[in-house]
Amino acid sequence: RMLRRQMVCRRDIDSLNAPFLLIYESLVPPEEEKAKQKQLLMLLEKLVNKEWPQAQLYLYGSCANSFGVSKSDIDVCLAMEDADINKSEVLLKLADILQSDNFQNVQALTHARVPIVKLMDPETGISCDICVNNVLAVVNTKVLRDYACIDERLRQLAFIVKHWAKSRGVNETYQGTLSSYAYVLMCIHFLQLRRPAILPCLQEMEATYSVTVDDIDCTFFDQVEKLSGFGSRNSETIAQLVWAFFNYWAYYHDYANNVISVRSGSIISKHEKDWTRRIGNDRHLICIEDPFEISHDLGRVVDKFSIKVLREEFERAAEVMQYDRNPCVKLFEPYVP
Ligand code: CTP
Ligand code: MG
Repeated sequence: RMLRRQMVCRRDIDSLNAPFLLIYESLVPPEEEKAKQKQLLMLLEKLVNKEWPQAQLYLYGSCANSFGVSKSDIDVCLAMEDADINKSEVLLKLADILQSDNFQNVQALTHARVPIVKLMDPETGISCDICVNNVLAVVNTKVLRDYACIDERLRQLAFIVKHWAKSRGVNETYQGTLSSYAYVLMCIHFLQLRRPAILPCLQEMEATYSVTVDDIDCTFFDQVEKLSGFGSRNSETIAQLVWAFFNYWAYYHDYANNVISVRSGSIISKHEKDWTRRIGNDRHLICIEDPFEISHDLGRVVDKFSIKVLREEFERAAEVMQYDRNPCVKLFEPYVP
């Protein structure tokens, strides 16, 4: 596949700013929803502490990283001090407790890659997944939230990209497309690479936050209130950024050789990471390095069929942004097989 020459953006691009911002605002969860989530977390905490007085509950994922759209499920991590616990036993016990407290659809998935208990709270209608000791996810949730504080264009872009991915059916890891987490990392990296940059690389800056989780040192600059004007030398608008984002993934990204890395704020080579061939089920057809678990490629779920689907969707989106009369509708048109 040939990479195309730089496309010049359509002249009326900025007429799309207002409609894109309206879409963004319609996706942002209202305050009362956040309050209900907190209320449910407190109830769960009470139940959990009856059985395990030392345990703590943390929110992670989209309800805590500021990239959650309205009516999302919530992700909760049960943190236990004791490292020797048997996760399956804990989850089965937890499922028991929740069941007796009249939660609905309680299900322990002890064999999943990340074992969880699922539940639905009949009071609020909120669905929730609880995992055990997945502390890295709590830390990567914080770094995403910190990035979102620096420039509001990140949250706007990521909401639009996630909404596009869900509408087009390319946010399904079990079908070989990408997780929401991967899409947010793609957005952060894209904004780190604009010139002038819209986002810094927090992991390359002075470490003001530092934790060690499963032998991985997680350090980064987290005093983000000091960075609030960081992107102001770049005046690109949300419409221009959406256009450029899809252009990048449709025509510029070098899928054969490159890895995107939020950790380093730059593009690195597959060669350097030894991600050049298939090992087991990891194919590395699109490479997105996890910021902390750096041996982890978030593109590993993508196979030779789904890479085609994904790239065709990026190309479709780029074409829609360039030529369509009504991109704000067409971009999100549901995919019908
Ligand atoms: N996560 C991770 N590694 C992955 C996938 C997910 O560490 N390969 C963690 C991240 O902390 C992420 C959380 O699990 O924030 C939830 O992942 P995901 O469901 O992809 O993202 P959400 O932000 O919850 O998105 P959605 O709104 O689609 O639920
Ligand atoms: Mg989630």
